Amino acid sequence: MGIRTSARIEGIPHYEPGLTMAEVMDSYGLESVVKLASNESPFPPLPEVKAVIDEGLEGLNRYPDGAARALREAIAERHAVDMSQVSIGNGSCELIVHAGVALLDPGTTIIYATPSFAMYPHLAAEAGAEAIEVPLAADGGHDLHAMAAAVDERTRLIIICNPNNPTGVYRSADEIEAFLDLIPDDLAVLVDEAYYDFVGAPDRGRVSVMARTRPNLLVTRTFSKAFGLCGLRVGYGIGSQSWTAALDAVRQPFNTNQLAQVAALESLKHPAAIQARVDEAISERERVSSALREMGVPFTPSHGNFILMEPPGPGTDARALHEDLLRRGVIVRSGAALGCPGTLRVTIGAPSENDAFLSALGAAAGITAPAA
Ligand SMILES: Cc1ncc(COP(=O)(O)O)c(C=O)c1O
Repeated sequence: MGIRTSARIEGIPHYEPGLTMAEVMDSYGLESVVKLASNESPFPPLPEVKAVIDEGLEGLNRYPDGAARALREAIAERHAVDMSQVSIGNGSCELIVHAGVALLDPGTTIIYATPSFAMYPHLAAEAGAEAIEVPLAADGGHDLHAMAAAVDERTRLIIICNPNNPTGVYRSADEIEAFLDLIPDDLAVLVDEAYYDFVGAPDRGRVSVMARTRPNLLVTRTFSKAFGLCGLRVGYGIGSQSWTAALDAVRQPFNTNQLAQVAALESLKHPAAIQARVDEAISERERVSSALREMGVPFTPSHGNFILMEPPGPGTDARALHEDLLRRGVIVRSGAALGCPGTLRVTIGAPSENDAFLSALGAAAGITAPAA
């Protein structure tokens, strides 16, 4: 006999993490694999970041600063906001989940796009609220007009993923601003900018400037992608004080661990080194995109560190191609697990990993990959 649980947990979708490298090596008898399935950074932490993590080990018998003051101060300075407008989370995922806990009740609704980041459906299910899932526009970006039209008096929270995961499509700051102008000032909007650093548009960052003064706006960012610290779990939000107070009310007192705090703070002190890594990811994304184009592989042009692609040629099955790539030692994410059946999502890795992907794809699909 098991324990009695809330009826709500029945409705919570199971988050399907990508296959681990060890699982794939074991299953296919491989000695090495390339993992391009979780939108991670191919770079290890900067040496200076490793050094502060090492130093921090000594103090792990103490609780961390529950208010993450030093990190919040640095982020506040970077965004020209008061510290009271910064929330720190155990990954930006935690802030997103906390937004659901703090804002949703049974009888209320949350609006987000589909397909988008797999965590969003959890929020309504956990709170017993209703999820209004608005299909993406034909270009793979948010249909902001349809999202605005879905707002009614029950709506408590709207999430916009920009650029969108898994399509990589970006909506401009003007489009987001026009959307915000259409909805009530007291209706909470969370713009998830996990992939902000990889955006190749001149207006990137302007939505976070809006979050300085818009009463209903929270922009979330993460140290998981461009900063390469996903294993430590740290993200942040910039928004109005009513947003940060709501998130603060529902978090546990020591939600961000000590090593994550010092590592994130140190990372912010090396913008040139981080930017060099981001520049490489962007130039690799463009190189992989050109190669896919040359190979006749349909894909959605991306502003993230990943690309959503379809199998080349009619009749090629995405599941079969996914499996074939695994057999060849390349792990990508099956689009079926992301709400995009018939597609695969590949993360942009180091140049050698991207080459391994392109040549495995060429071999699996019977086409020649362009020379590296
Ligand atoms: C759109 C989006 N938001 C948030 C996250 C979560 O990031 P974090 O590691 O900060 O929790 C991800 C992770 O893949 C993501 O794709």
